[in-house]
Amino acid sequence: MEVTLITGASSGIGEALAFKLAERKHNLLLIARSGDKLEKHCKHLTDKFGINAQYIAADLSRPDSSNAVFEESKKRNLSVTMLVNNAGIGSSGEFVRNNLQSELSMLQLNNASLVALCHLFLPDMIKSKSGSIINVASLAAFFPSPYMAVYAASKVFVRSFTQALTEECKPYGVHVLLFSPGFTATNFMNTPANDNAWGKTLTEGAYTQTSEQVALEMIQAWEKKKTFHVSGRFNSFATKIGALIPNAVIAKVFAGSKRKKMNL
Ligand SMILES: NC(=O)c1ccc[n+]([C@@H]2O[C@H](COP(=O)([O-])OP(=O)(O)OC[C@H]3O[C@@H](n4cnc5c(N)ncnc54)[C@H](OP(=O)(O)O)[C@@H]3O)[C@@H](O)[C@H]2O)c1
Repeated sequence: MEVTLITGASSGIGEALAFKLAERKHNLLLIARSGDKLEKHCKHLTDKFGINAQYIAADLSRPDSSNAVFEESKKRNLSVTMLVNNAGIGSSGEFVRNNLQSELSMLQLNNASLVALCHLFLPDMIKSKSGSIINVASLAAFFPSPYMAVYAASKVFVRSFTQALTEECKPYGVHVLLFSPGFTATNFMNTPANDNAWGKTLTEGAYTQTSEQVALEMIQAWEKKKTFHVSGRFNSFATKIGALIPNAVIAKVFAGSKRKKMNL
């Protein structure tokens, strides 16, 4: 059976995307750590939309987890024709004071697992000369972000990797989309690594979308076969302006503004 695999589908953007794709009759394979939430979503989506929705509870900050997800999907005879690498976490604060293990674990989730899942599921898409991959980056992929240094760098990685992959996959008929949300009202800023005074300097007064708006933009960008999309007109405009300013200047201005908000 053909399925769309969504990582980070237990909440936020991934959850909203699962609901919108179920409405469009996609069969789903949902991934996150919270098996209880995924089980509830699957039952609801199956009952409401008459699709097949399954889940695998997996911690993608573990190096062996992507392979386990791949093997389990094969065991269930599922053919992943659309892969959405959405799971990700952030961290706010002074780099030198942040917990190193948490930062490295974030890189495993935001980058290494994303790469591994692309590598594992791409060969079957190439064989069938069809399929789609959507990698979720961030507005942070376009700006160096002092006091969110490792997270922003992880999203620069997603951006660079995905734009390169888009071109490598074109001759095979596999569609790859780099999708970059801006601030979105989800649990993202409520995790322990983000929910602190530095995190609040970032979100205060920021232009914010809902996860439903962002999920809808993702689907529309995918349906139009776009390879690049920044969600929200304001965010898209900001990346265009940002591209005209040297990164060193952006970093300096951001750092100064955040230190000011922290009264430092
Ligand atoms: N919200 C924003 O302002 C914003 C802005 C730009 C980009 N983004 C990006 O959008 C994506 C989705 O984030 P969101 O805003 O929807 O945040 P969210 O509500 O916190 O959702 C994150 C999802 O990732 C899953 N996840 C976290 N750690 C995981 C792990 N170790 N293994 C497997 N799954 C894990 C979470 O499920 P479990 O906890 O159940 O594992 C959850 O389903 C992320 O890549 C984020 O970087 C968000």
